[in-house]
Amino acid sequence: MKVKAAVMWEVGQPLDIREVDLDEPKAGEVLVKVGSAGICRSDRHFMHGDAPIAIPVVLGHEGAGTVVQTGPGVTLASEGDQVILSFVPACGRCRSCLEGHSNLCDLHAATGANMLDGTTRLHADGKDVHHMGKVACFAEYAVVPETGVVPLADSIPMDKAAMIGCSVTTGVGAAIYSAEIKPGSTVAVIGCGGVGLSVIMGAALANAGQIIAVDIREAQLEFAMRFGATHTVNAADQDPVRQVKDLTGGRGADYTFEVFGSGDTTKAAYDMAAKRGIVTVVGIAPWGQEASINAVDLVRNEKTLRGSYYGSARSRTDMPVMVDLYQSGKLNLDDLVVRHYTLDQINEAYADLDRGEIGRGAIMF
Ligand code: APR
Ligand code: ZN
Repeated sequence: MKVKAAVMWEVGQPLDIREVDLDEPKAGEVLVKVGSAGICRSDRHFMHGDAPIAIPVVLGHEGAGTVVQTGPGVTLASEGDQVILSFVPACGRCRSCLEGHSNLCDLHAATGANMLDGTTRLHADGKDVHHMGKVACFAEYAVVPETGVVPLADSIPMDKAAMIGCSVTTGVGAAIYSAEIKPGSTVAVIGCGGVGLSVIMGAALANAGQIIAVDIREAQLEFAMRFGATHTVNAADQDPVRQVKDLTGGRGADYTFEVFGSGDTTKAAYDMAAKRGIVTVVGIAPWGQEASINAVDLVRNEKTLRGSYYGSARSRTDMPVMVDLYQSGKLNLDDLVVRHYTLDQINEAYADLDRGEIGRGAIMF
């Protein structure tokens, strides 16, 4: 079928909104009519060439929609299901999946921006077009692996469902599944975009005592207070490490999170952690960038430095938990999504992200 999609032909160029060819779903795949797609910084990393990806490609990995067709042998979803799209469709058979870490599925990692059989369903001008995260939801329709859809029991607004597909699961998951924040503890979150605000919501859910939002923009910091931040630190004014230490009686925070993506902010997250502090890196730094830490401090203060990918979550069981938390009023997704765009406006949507507009943007179809 012909569908409208935003194609990235080259690094550094605006996305090209045009018609592309989309094949039928093959065995174990489903066709989804996309309802909403989130404007996440991860796509921006590819557009800027900060992270490698096969091109041409249809980006978009934070999405939700409705299943309209199932390929042969599909058992995990049915026509008409509202689904959240997962950008790590777990194979269920590799070592990572079998050990319960389906967010790190080996087969998904090995096949990159292609479907699980290594081929693409998207084509344009005689070329194969790749699928970011096997989602490629900057398009009216997407063919995705059946393990990459999470059907919802009750329907929720598409833009909120889309957020659960990336920022919310990544951020809330980092707080509760990766770091396992303990009640009453102190938390600092560097970077308060869609993902950072979700870490803050996760910290609030875990009953953290002090939640310190750190950003370089005042509007972001004010906005963070709505999601559970108790204190704010403007990193553009003064050294954020010093400020977080001042707010925590000189100790530093028990849990710190890096949610922007750079070597410098990773180092800052490490430096502002308390003795026995847990440092969780969520943001994706430009490829090859390194973060230097004081190797002796690591030992003498028994700090833990860890990464968190997709919130250490298992999409098919943990995303429904996020939906329940939203429905019971414990996750404020209604305030999180503040800007709506059409697919034709996608380049403007990314310009707004670059300008640092508050909250999350979403494309509505
Ligand atoms: N210190 C603190 N905050 C900063 C700094 C800095 N030096 N530089 C930028 N920021 C803030 C921005 O002002 C913005 O509020 O970080 C925030 C980043 O938010 P978004 O651009 O909305 O990014 P988001 O989509 O939340 O993704 C954050 O997580 O999943 C990864 O790839 C993603 O690396 C990205 C990160
Ligand atoms: Zn994302």
